[in-house]
Amino acid sequence: MRVILIGPPGVGKGTQAKLLVKKYHIPQISTGDMLRANIQQNTALGQHANTFMEAGKLVPDDVILEMIRVRFLEADCKDGYVLDGFPRTIPQAEGLELMLKKIDQKLDAVLVITADNAEIIRRLSSRRSCQECGAVYNLLFSPPHKTDICDHCGGKLYQRDDDKPATIQNRLDVYESQTAPLVEFYYKMDLVRKVNGMGTIDEVSEGIRKALE
Ligand code: AP5
Repeated sequence: MRVILIGPPGVGKGTQAKLLVKKYHIPQISTGDMLRANIQQNTALGQHANTFMEAGKLVPDDVILEMIRVRFLEADCKDGYVLDGFPRTIPQAEGLELMLKKIDQKLDAVLVITADNAEIIRRLSSRRSCQECGAVYNLLFSPPHKTDICDHCGGKLYQRDDDKPATIQNRLDVYESQTAPLVEFYYKMDLVRKVNGMGTIDEVSEGIRKALE
């Protein structure tokens, strides 16, 4: 199964990707997580990417495409993957198509998850992530048992810098201008399956299950 998740920031791509990982035993490839890992390790790539991410802007396409090219070489991608947050621009989608052609692979579906902006702002403002294991919580919808402590590893929870109100609005604008056009791109390839992201996590997951039938 090779699936792309497209949707605005905070719509639940990462949350649903993790459920698909469990169901299909394929890796989640999240460019956001890969970039944040580079920032945490203070690599040159991380330092470069951070200037864009802090402002809610997209990291340049060539950086992202190279990161994906290297990731695809890893053995766990052989039987499929969930692409979460990639591609995000038409040049990235074109780059992905070239890569897939070279390795003779085809996508199975592009899941487009939607939700209204008020809900997205609510979810992002109340998101907390574990700085040790990356687990994601929500203070309103799926809070940790102990305040600011990860249920899984005991790590400290933090709020992402780009989840502050001014940056959220930038990210929503960037989504509309640079990522939303991908829906048309994949629609023409007959790959788009729309999913309503406004329900509970289980309801959205059920929508995805039906979309992949
Ligand atoms: P990235 O990390 O990919 O962020 P994003 O796309 O903005 O998506 P998010 O991770 O914010 O949200 P999500 O949809 O995964 O939602 P989640 O499941 O966490 O990218 C960050 C930055 O990196 C970008 O701005 C850019 O600078 C750079 N970048 C990354 N990829 C790039 C690329 N390809 N090209 C260029 N630049 C790139 O859910 C959100 C919250 O809601 C959580 O708290 C969750 O628990 C909760 N929640 C989820 N579903 C539900 C539900 N159904 N009901 C209630 N709560 C829910």
